[in-house]
Amino acid sequence: MHIVGARPNFVKAAPVVSALEARGVRQAVVHTGQHYDDRMSAVFFRELGLPRPDVDLGVGSGSHAEQTAALMVGLEREFTERAPRLVIVYGDVNSTLAAGLVAAKLHIPVAHVEAGLRSFDWSMPEEVNRRVTDQLSDILFATSPEAVGHLAHEGVDVDRIHLVGNPMIDTLLGNLDRFDVGSLRTRLDLPAKYVAATLHRPANVDDPDTVARLAARLHEVADQVDVVMPVHPRGAAAFEKAGLADHPRMRLLEPLGYIDFVTLVRGSAAVVTDSGGVQEETTILGVPCLTLRPNTERPVTITHGTNRLVVDSELPGLVSKILAGETPGTPAIADVPPLWDGHAGERIAAILADR
Ligand code: UD1
Ligand code: UDP
Repeated sequence: MHIVGARPNFVKAAPVVSALEARGVRQAVVHTGQHYDDRMSAVFFRELGLPRPDVDLGVGSGSHAEQTAALMVGLEREFTERAPRLVIVYGDVNSTLAAGLVAAKLHIPVAHVEAGLRSFDWSMPEEVNRRVTDQLSDILFATSPEAVGHLAHEGVDVDRIHLVGNPMIDTLLGNLDRFDVGSLRTRLDLPAKYVAATLHRPANVDDPDTVARLAARLHEVADQVDVVMPVHPRGAAAFEKAGLADHPRMRLLEPLGYIDFVTLVRGSAAVVTDSGGVQEETTILGVPCLTLRPNTERPVTITHGTNRLVVDSELPGLVSKILAGETPGTPAIADVPPLWDGHAGERIAAILADR
């Protein structure tokens, strides 16, 4: 039984579901309803060939305690009624944590896809979620070697850890021929050169003063080049209040579906983001990625990719260098991260089928 609920979960689960399907494994997909807008949820099922969820718990939004409690109550009911042999959870969202907790107490084995990532920043809800989920998991699928190291260091039995590559990259590579920049440019009337932006971390979008500062910085970037930003619902009201749209070269959009979004990234001169998944996708697409965070749980995107951690005051200068042809995110290692080859889902399915 796969548990998904938020935008990044869908992108990660799709290749695992399809690889298990190819092996004839009986599966169920539970959608928790943590994300529920069409553009945050259903569009991913339509585009990525995910089966219609067997259940939608419809938990919706709330404080961490409210949302996690609702998730646990709904998941306990499902797990008790359906008695899955294994629960598979993805990433680091509240749906992941809740499923891990409920399954562990019902003595149902848990497999965690994207285990072992660490930002070492306990102020991030995701760090709490991923650490606890890893402690509760029986099978841990890691996307990068340093994640294996973190788990081993924390005392996880190495026999339970599998370095399998990155299912989010399976989805990217499996859809490469659908990312048609020319047709998106025509459809959205995009300029020839633009920077793509997406921000949703609480540290960037919850505090009005921070949002105002970021809006001013994005305007400085827009003084040089068009900025196209599909706005995550979490920060939408705050960015509107801060007047982010009040610049002639600032283009704000609703969240985009997966195919349009990755196409937007592929065609961009650079990306400004705080998204975990986007740091990984730009690594493979070779697009310079400026990550507005003090840390990352995905250092492999810096050593092997185009990612660079930045503070907002650096943004205008770095964008200007990128536009001038410099690449401030040049990787130390030329190869892409090991096993980011489009076959992580198949490796996961093979390991699960062997059990
Ligand atoms: C969640 C994850 C985060 C992940 C992000 C991906 C947690 C703690 N956070 O953050 O790790 O990076 O998803 O996008 O699990 N909202 C809508 N429509 C929706 C969904 C949300 O309007 O379909 C709004 C609601 O006002 C809600 C807010 O966004 O309160 C935040 O949603 P929530 O799922 O709690 O957290 P995210 O910030 O989306
Ligand atoms: N994404 C999308 N539309 C958008 C923004 C992001 O389809 O408008 C995709 C993105 O390509 C990646 C995933 O959503 O595959 C990442 O989700 P998000 O940034 O919300 O979460 P995070 O990875 O930070 O947890």
